[in-house]
Amino acid sequence: MAKTFYLTTPLYYVNASPHIGHSYTEVAADCLARYRRLKGEAVFFLTGTDEHGQKIEQAATAAGKAPQMFVDEMVERFKALWTLLGISHDDFIRTTEPRHVTVVQACLTRLHDENALFHATYDGWYCTPCETFWTKDELAATGGSPTCPNCQRPLEAVKEEGWYLPLRRHQDWLRRFLKAHPPFIQPQTRYNEIASLLEQPLPEYLCITRPRRRVGWGIPVPFSDRHVTYVWFDALLNYLSAPGYGVDAERFEGLWPADVHFIGKDILRHHAVYWPIILHALGLSDERMPRLIFAHGWWKIGEQKMSKSLGNIVDPYAIVQQFLKGQSFAADVYRYFLLREVPFGQDGAFSEDAILGRLDADLADDLGNLVNRALSMIERYRKGVIPDFGSENDRLGRVTDDDDLKEEALQLSGRLDESMSNLSFADALGSIFQLVTHANRYIENQTPWLYAKDTTGQERLNTILRSLAEVIRIVSITLEPFMPSVSAAIWQQLGMGGTPRRLADASRWPGISSGQPLGARSVLFPKSEAGAAG
Ligand code: MSP
Repeated sequence: MAKTFYLTTPLYYVNASPHIGHSYTEVAADCLARYRRLKGEAVFFLTGTDEHGQKIEQAATAAGKAPQMFVDEMVERFKALWTLLGISHDDFIRTTEPRHVTVVQACLTRLHDENALFHATYDGWYCTPCETFWTKDELAATGGSPTCPNCQRPLEAVKEEGWYLPLRRHQDWLRRFLKAHPPFIQPQTRYNEIASLLEQPLPEYLCITRPRRRVGWGIPVPFSDRHVTYVWFDALLNYLSAPGYGVDAERFEGLWPADVHFIGKDILRHHAVYWPIILHALGLSDERMPRLIFAHGWWKIGEQKMSKSLGNIVDPYAIVQQFLKGQSFAADVYRYFLLREVPFGQDGAFSEDAILGRLDADLADDLGNLVNRALSMIERYRKGVIPDFGSENDRLGRVTDDDDLKEEALQLSGRLDESMSNLSFADALGSIFQLVTHANRYIENQTPWLYAKDTTGQERLNTILRSLAEVIRIVSITLEPFMPSVSAAIWQQLGMGGTPRRLADASRWPGISSGQPLGARSVLFPKSEAGAAG
């Protein structure tokens, strides 16, 4: 039996409400999960929340709440956002759940029992917002100043006794593994970044505990009641605990290794260095390493970094429920924008104008216009029933245009497959919209309204209308991973019943039963000038 396609998102910190960055990773992962399902594959899409550590503890204190109560409330904001955005995860793991805690403790015990951990005193720097340790050597690269190389915020000097996982001991193995598996980290720039990091000696050890007297909110370390687990060691293990590592062997075997870990570029080192080393230390072989770590870029706000202190955090709820409130498919407009605006892997500039630009140009003028024009002609000229293709001898020499359109439509799923196998979401959407543009041009060139007036042009009109209906059907199928609600709405307007379920149907022509009546129709994307978006 084919292995289930297993993909993950990072576990989001619940110290504050979700923002555009969180929704970006989530929407991208959802798009891939939906795409794989549409291809007929079994998929396990895991997401969740990172609920331990100093940063959460401090946020709970600031809110005047006990940490557990605080995280229980915060997690709901993430879950509700995923519902709003149509996220189709198969599992949602919280690091405070017993099923996770048990696995983390079992891993700690195992490493301890195998003498794979060291006890020592750490004397160095710590970044609480990133929950990350930095050695003096690593800081030297930034001029030795005590600010975090990742987020540039001030570091805290820490000197504390704890348990350590050796890193350097695994460095040669990791370097060799990377060389033998160039697709392990993508995009290529991120692969190069880690490959060059591994040319320098790694820090000797990674501290994987925190003293309980300073950080109370963490998973207790089974062999030391003075310690809790370092939040990154805890959180990374979710990728093992959710599929049942050490608990349900059969389930685990069907899921592991992860096919894709989606992450942002800021947490590359944790995923591309610490994580494989943890797995290696736990005795997992090279074949059992995750297959791909994909680090996407960051959304900036115009030219600025998004940050609480600048007060420019983009709240997805505000975009979808307020800014786009006149849109019936606001969540899909937002998904489309995220996936189309920036090549996945690069940084992007967010602005409300950029969303409106996409909404008006691509969605209203191209896609909405195509669906509206084609279906209203079927309504007007054929009483709302999709006609059969006209008979050959009536094609009046327009064969090439028909064939070109059909050919591009039938090539679409192949193009999509190529783009999606590289996680090039923007390219995939580009191909779908190229077909949409082509179909709009076809309408202009074919002038169906002229045939409608002429009794001898009726067969030709049938061919044009049917070709358009078939293209719209294929667009509806291929849009499903990107804009699931829009895809379903188009499908229903075509009178297809249910929702698109199989990508393979995009390679069929025709795929509509002749004589099929259209479903109820409505405008998909009201233009923003009409006050629809604000
Ligand atoms: N809890 C850790 C992950 C543990 S995974 C075992 C964490 N959480 S986070 O909430 O801070 O970040 C989650 C994700 O959001 C990261 O992938 C990060 O890159 C992403 N983003 C945070 N800000 C972002 C932008 N401005 N733009 C795009 N994504 C960004 O790190």
